Amino acid sequence: MDKYKNQFPPNFFWGASTASHQVEGDNHNQWSVWELAHAQDLAQTAHQRLGWLPGWEDVKTRAEKPDNYVSGKGVRHYENYKEDFAIAKKLNLNAYRFGIEWARLEPSEGKWDEKEVQHYREYIRELRRKGLEPFLNIWHWTLPNWFSDRGGFAKRENLQYFERFVQKIADEYADDLTYVITLNEPNVYASFGYGNGLWPPQEHSWLKAVWVYRNLVKAHKKAYRILKHKRPTLMVGVAAQLANIQAKRPHNFIDSFSTRLMRYGWNWWFLNRIRRQQDFVGFNYYFTDYYKNFRRDNPQVPVNDLGWYMEPEGLYPLLLRAWAHYRKPIIVTENGVADEQDQYRQWWLEETMIAMEKALSEGVQVVGYFHWSLLDNFEWAYGWWPKFGLVSVNRQQGMKREIRPSAAWFAKEISTRKKQG
Ligand code: BGC
Repeated sequence: MDKYKNQFPPNFFWGASTASHQVEGDNHNQWSVWELAHAQDLAQTAHQRLGWLPGWEDVKTRAEKPDNYVSGKGVRHYENYKEDFAIAKKLNLNAYRFGIEWARLEPSEGKWDEKEVQHYREYIRELRRKGLEPFLNIWHWTLPNWFSDRGGFAKRENLQYFERFVQKIADEYADDLTYVITLNEPNVYASFGYGNGLWPPQEHSWLKAVWVYRNLVKAHKKAYRILKHKRPTLMVGVAAQLANIQAKRPHNFIDSFSTRLMRYGWNWWFLNRIRRQQDFVGFNYYFTDYYKNFRRDNPQVPVNDLGWYMEPEGLYPLLLRAWAHYRKPIIVTENGVADEQDQYRQWWLEETMIAMEKALSEGVQVVGYFHWSLLDNFEWAYGWWPKFGLVSVNRQQGMKREIRPSAAWFAKEISTRKKQG
């Protein structure tokens, strides 16, 4: 590790990420409606879907309860954000990525809820007061019900509603911001909502998924124009999801062919289309995936609580490639691990820092890192049992927050690097 120390520039963004629906509580959108309609079924099928997990015995009582699948009160971040920012500060962070909940701002079509507009204004100001650079994320998968009733992003003519929402954000908040992320993981959204149908609106058409994916390119480009028009100095990008995709047998023709295909479709297709409409390259990193023939074939260990194979150093080749492709500052907009016992997180963080330091030492301009997540939160169709937080939240006991040992360690590492910077 020593060899690479001291590579982080003094103004590096050390942050954590959250998304409105996963933490706020009391959201009413197409996801919350879907949760209530499917909680029973998800609980009943949990064993069948998740019984293969090495930690199944530990999670089964939770995974088999319908409650697990309802976001409900969230972790009451909506009310407690000041305390949560104070915790982020205690962890020596200097940046924070958060989502705006579209359904709060525009609960019915064209009608803005000014109280909510004010809420996020206060929220952003509080971040500034605490010395946390706000990274506003416009859209992280959830839709107001009126928008999803109209067909959401599957209809091109619906983009006008998204544009109006972006315009509102620009008008209200642009003066208080430097960094804006337009969309979170369009590839995951299109695949899960429209391809494999695991998430709302549960369509099973890869053709439609591609169409949605294309519409999201348009949505980003429009958003970029609106935001830059309002404030040309804004730094605008996306939070793409990139996987470190590798051939299982590097010299095998089929493995390397499928690897190249997957890399192009999953990692670069979207970013290539918006290469001129991004001021930084933002991406989330969770996975290394090995391909054998046309199938994923990952090692059995180590895996996190969700059974995802963990190779944190896989961030390094992605940083190199993203830099080679786009030559723009890079921000790791999410990265983390589901680890309730906190047995892997410190190792993961350490390997991740080494990966960034290696890339930095080779001239790659990495300017920020955001851990997923600050808090334990609502993990979409898995519900509450997976724990991604630097800080645990006990939802049974007054939503009590507690800093995990790995996070305390991370905080020290950050402060060492800041001093050396
Ligand atoms: C998403 C988060 C999610 C995390 C862990 C990312 O793909 O942006 O919302 O909680 O992964 O699954």
